[in-house]
Amino acid sequence: MNIEVHDTAFVIAYYRAQHEILSQDPYAKLWSKDSLKIFADEFATQVSVYDEMLHCMRNRYFHDELQELATTHKDLLFINLGAGFSMYPYSLPDSVISVEVDFKEIMLYKDITTDTFLKEGKLPKRKVKRIAADITNAEGQQKIKETISEFENYTKVILIEGVFFFLNKRAIETVLNFCADIQSKDDLVLCISFDESQNETKVFKRLKQYFSETLQSHENPYTCLPHKFYENIEGYSLKKKYSTLALGKQLGCIETSVKEEEILNEHCYTLFKIR
Ligand SMILES: C[S@@+](CC[C@H](N)C(=O)[O-])C[C@H]1O[C@@H](n2cnc3c(N)ncnc32)[C@H](O)[C@@H]1O
Repeated sequence: MNIEVHDTAFVIAYYRAQHEILSQDPYAKLWSKDSLKIFADEFATQVSVYDEMLHCMRNRYFHDELQELATTHKDLLFINLGAGFSMYPYSLPDSVISVEVDFKEIMLYKDITTDTFLKEGKLPKRKVKRIAADITNAEGQQKIKETISEFENYTKVILIEGVFFFLNKRAIETVLNFCADIQSKDDLVLCISFDESQNETKVFKRLKQYFSETLQSHENPYTCLPHKFYENIEGYSLKKKYSTLALGKQLGCIETSVKEEEILNEHCYTLFKIR
């Protein structure tokens, strides 16, 4: 089967592969190809040179959160909504069951290609189920429910990474309501978004211009959310929040002099289900 996936879908993997110790993603390089450097360089020039490292930091935050959960929970179900080409399951212990959800062409391509990587010995064997579904609609959500029904007693951790920017607020609420519906007390949601304050910065204006002019992506809502949005999600408490800039400075890969308004700073959130 010949499936075409646009190069832009692999750019984040390219970023992670440039700094695999910092991103903690040793498998991102499997998606690398020369043409991705052109995109990355163009983005660095037109929008921000820091985005490569900041994307590594976001992988690092979620990698560390997932590793900790995997060591403290015996039966862990990891559900990645809008998984793209991220590779978390292969760095997690083989006891973890992973479910990845994204649009059909992404999931089909990822399924076929990871099978080849496995056969070539480039990936460790893991239990990964892939679902082609729109996470914002009832039909897609039903598909996910059916797939996870056999894991009723597992601790469920849901990751939504790099997706909220592309959904309007109503769709985001629909997705979070769905999370609440399938999760139980003590389960977790990991997610990330830009804070509203980012909206006014020059770098964010360049980002919007890049999407609309260079990528010809005209229907993007460019959603930013205030921190208080995460403090008020029904049924959840905000356990932890950390920005990619703060993590970059902490790990010494971003200079301490860099100011938030100069960069595309995303905030990572860990939400804990309280009932
Ligand atoms: C910027 S990529 C991020 C991919 C991955 N989470 C990561 O951080 O590497 C956004 C992903 O979300 C997926 N996506 C966006 N809207 C979606 C929806 N309504 N249903 C399913 N997947 C969606 C896209 O297809 C894409 O793979």
